[in-house]
Amino acid sequence: MTRPPWGAKDDRISSRCSMHTATASPMTATRGKPLRGRARVPGDKSISHRALILGALAVGRTRISRLLEGEDVLNTGRAMRALGARVERTGAGQWQVDGVGVGGFGQPAAALDFGNSGTGCRLVMGAAAGCPIAATFDGDASLRKRPMRRVLDPLERMGAQALSVAEGGRLPIRLQGARDPIPIVYEPPAASAQLKSAVLLAGLGAPGATTVFEKEATRDHTERMLLHFGAEVAVETVGDGRRITVTGRPELRPAEVMVPADPSSAAFPMVAALIVPNSSIVIEGVMTNPLRTGLFDTLIEMGASIETLDTRTEGGEDVADLRVHASALTGVEVPAFRAPSMIDEYPVLAIAAACARGTTVMRGLKELRVKESDRLAATAAMLRVNGVDVEIQGDDLLVHGCGRVPGGSSVVTHMDHRIAMSALVLGLATDRPVQADDIDIVATSFPGFADLMRSLGANLV
Ligand code: S3P
Repeated sequence: MTRPPWGAKDDRISSRCSMHTATASPMTATRGKPLRGRARVPGDKSISHRALILGALAVGRTRISRLLEGEDVLNTGRAMRALGARVERTGAGQWQVDGVGVGGFGQPAAALDFGNSGTGCRLVMGAAAGCPIAATFDGDASLRKRPMRRVLDPLERMGAQALSVAEGGRLPIRLQGARDPIPIVYEPPAASAQLKSAVLLAGLGAPGATTVFEKEATRDHTERMLLHFGAEVAVETVGDGRRITVTGRPELRPAEVMVPADPSSAAFPMVAALIVPNSSIVIEGVMTNPLRTGLFDTLIEMGASIETLDTRTEGGEDVADLRVHASALTGVEVPAFRAPSMIDEYPVLAIAAACARGTTVMRGLKELRVKESDRLAATAAMLRVNGVDVEIQGDDLLVHGCGRVPGGSSVVTHMDHRIAMSALVLGLATDRPVQADDIDIVATSFPGFADLMRSLGANLV
């Protein structure tokens, strides 16, 4: 039931959630031979969303290559189209966007459906808040549970108005953008690149300087890409954080964007190769932006053999081929300050920790509770049902590894792609097979996951 990434059918935004049919698609991972070979994971999700959004806000034609053609990003493409940009697929991973300029979004005819994607939804809310249009934002059952007040608060300060909001500050939300947005100085209450980006994108429509002061640095793809599209952006390092100022009302120039491979997706074959004995793989062209590589640092501290080969720059980001050998891992303490640089990687780190010897303590995971699922609870449950000793203490996760995991159970994925993929990675190293109860959701971020893992030798059925 794979739909073409873009087609006449996709014009109907209301058909968005067709991937979540009543019938679940389970998949089972079984221990087998070592993983071997080379693979390239799909394009980075964060950069893909931003390339479509900034392309839509530029004047002229932006060309994007290696765009992630996962459901999350396609939904952002559909939203850009509904707001007036022309978005076309010209080949595999090749897209062009004819933008409408800052402030040029038109009123969408129907609700914008972001499916499973908090990033798409929050970033587009920001971009739309700086334009005088009203738009309804919606998503799937998982996204409808996620907090949106955190993004509405600064956008309202900038002059946007929430015309309607579902109970608890949730989707669906109807937002009236500001004709003359007010530039603000904003300190996000949580370390969140989505919040930072929403405010910076809204600031594009404001006269003067909009500043975000984040106490802990989060992924900086919005700032980098704004510069790439010709905006005036100043970034100042302040302690562990950053002060980012964007000058409003620029004329964004269209750009060429080459999307590097997603380190958050590379994490899955990487951990699989570490825990399946005698494995040796190379993952090609992985983005090594230091605000995204907390997992790699942590795994190396645990004793992982991860070699960085052929470091180069692609599309303004550092990338490298990573050679990963199976390794004997030891538990470590992962400090809270590292969380922003590996926020999406804790479920798969927990798999590595379960297969390690000793206790891994992951501190400061509060934000995991508001991801595609309550990822802290889902990660603990995934391990517990498969025989691993796990504790949640406040916002910390403790995994007591003893080098061997019994497995043998089905994991509830809670519409969370990263839980589904983590469960399947686990099953490649457990005594008995592990099932993910529904893997359809994996297509949101990692289309072709099972085929890629099988090409390395993984036993996934
Ligand atoms: C993202 C930011 C993070 C991350 C998400 C992608 C982004 O979310 O979890 O997958 O592209 O800005 P938060 O900003 O909520 O931490």
